[in-house]
Amino acid sequence: MGSPRWKRLCLLLLIGLAFSIIFYGHYYATDSARSPRTASRLLQVETLELVQAEILQDIRNSNFSAKSIRKWGIATEEPSKGDGSSLLKGKPSLCPQSLKTKVKTDSAFGKQFDFSIPTLIWKRLFTRETWNRLNERNVPYGWRGLPYEVIASAVQLLNDSTNSGLVSQTGSPDGCIRCAVVGNGGILNGSHQGKEIDAHDYVFRLNGAVIKGFEKDVGTKTSFYGFTVNTMKNSLLAYAEYDFTQVPQAKDIRYIFIPSDIRDYLMLKSAILGMPVPEGHDKGDNPQKYFGPEASAGKFRLLHPEFVHYLKERFLKSEIINTEFGKLYMPSTGALMLLTALHACDKVSAYGFITENYKMFSDHYYEREKKPLVFYANHDMLLEANLWRSLHQGGIMKLYQR
Ligand SMILES: *[C@@H]1O[C@H](CO)[C@@H](O)[C@H](O)[C@H]1NC(C)=O
Ligand SMILES: *[C@@H]1O[C@H](CO)[C@@H](O)[C@H](O)[C@H]1NC(C)=O
Ligand SMILES: *[C@@H]1O[C@H](CO)[C@@H](O)[C@H](O)[C@H]1NC(C)=O
Repeated sequence: MGSPRWKRLCLLLLIGLAFSIIFYGHYYATDSARSPRTASRLLQVETLELVQAEILQDIRNSNFSAKSIRKWGIATEEPSKGDGSSLLKGKPSLCPQSLKTKVKTDSAFGKQFDFSIPTLIWKRLFTRETWNRLNERNVPYGWRGLPYEVIASAVQLLNDSTNSGLVSQTGSPDGCIRCAVVGNGGILNGSHQGKEIDAHDYVFRLNGAVIKGFEKDVGTKTSFYGFTVNTMKNSLLAYAEYDFTQVPQAKDIRYIFIPSDIRDYLMLKSAILGMPVPEGHDKGDNPQKYFGPEASAGKFRLLHPEFVHYLKERFLKSEIINTEFGKLYMPSTGALMLLTALHACDKVSAYGFITENYKMFSDHYYEREKKPLVFYANHDMLLEANLWRSLHQGGIMKLYQR
């Protein structure tokens, strides 16, 4: 945000001091740190810096070769059904002004983006090698400490080729796939961006995505809804007073699970099977309450833990990682959705994301009285703000500002 480095460090420190209060007092705030139980477990786990550094180097060195295909766990031995190229990201786009073209000619972003990394995990990518590799990292970057049966059964239920992708050619005259990602920032209150948002081929929403009463500002179309089970359920509690009593439901909506906890795998599995959650924190919960009556694999997507790791390492490697809150840190739900869209679409517009002048706006667009944006120690909103600003300035995406 252009503020000097020491100011950011001070802010981090303050966040740190305030954190224990926030942590126990704000248990139902959206996107807040995971539950204290998980937190203490995470804080006890020894650091994995070396392993991560090694894997990062692997990622940097990877290219489209057979070696990298194996590395990302694409099961090459299985003959591909239909269009095999859909298994690999970075297939040539028909869109002449795709952000991929722009990225490749940008000296800085050209090195950060790797369009060959699968954004989603599904049955065909679930190999023994993938299990072994991801088993060395904690959630949301891996599966360390999670039971094989739960992970394997959840991922293997995603057996439809539609589980491997998010968008497909739309038949627009210029061949470009246009995506809008709608965050929940106060900047959208009174913005009148609804029509423009709905004009995109795909609209991503997340967490407390209130639509009713705000159609003019945020539109009505929803193609994807992104969440962790924790942030979704927290949103339903925290924003019930703003009429957020249900996550968006419709026949065409696809749900993007962010694998931040065993809860996400258990809920995903139960949602596809159309059964109540059998065990754990959400035991007895009926997934249809959240996602509607249709239970089938095609309705769901699961972010690849490897992709989440890559996003953290390449785009959002926060200084928080080196503090005592390092184990709690992860990119925000909004950041994960926006970066996912940037790896899937040709053109991306971001609405309701943090801007330089965020202090002028309320935390969320649906608050009736202005509330300041809350900074939690598990996210680095200022780092995210910087990223959005530079992606906008670099012409790679459009950030809605006012
Ligand atoms: C990509 O892989 C090919 C084949 O393994 C190799 O010859 C080439 O040097 C690699 N390129 C980079 C940039 O690593
Ligand atoms: C996926 O698995 C389900 C249940 O095991 C099965 O009924 C379905 O035919 C499978 N779909 C594909 C595309 O293999
Ligand atoms: C949002 O806009 C409405 C209508 O302009 C206004 O009444 C309300 O106070 C605004 N909310 C905030 C938090 O500024």
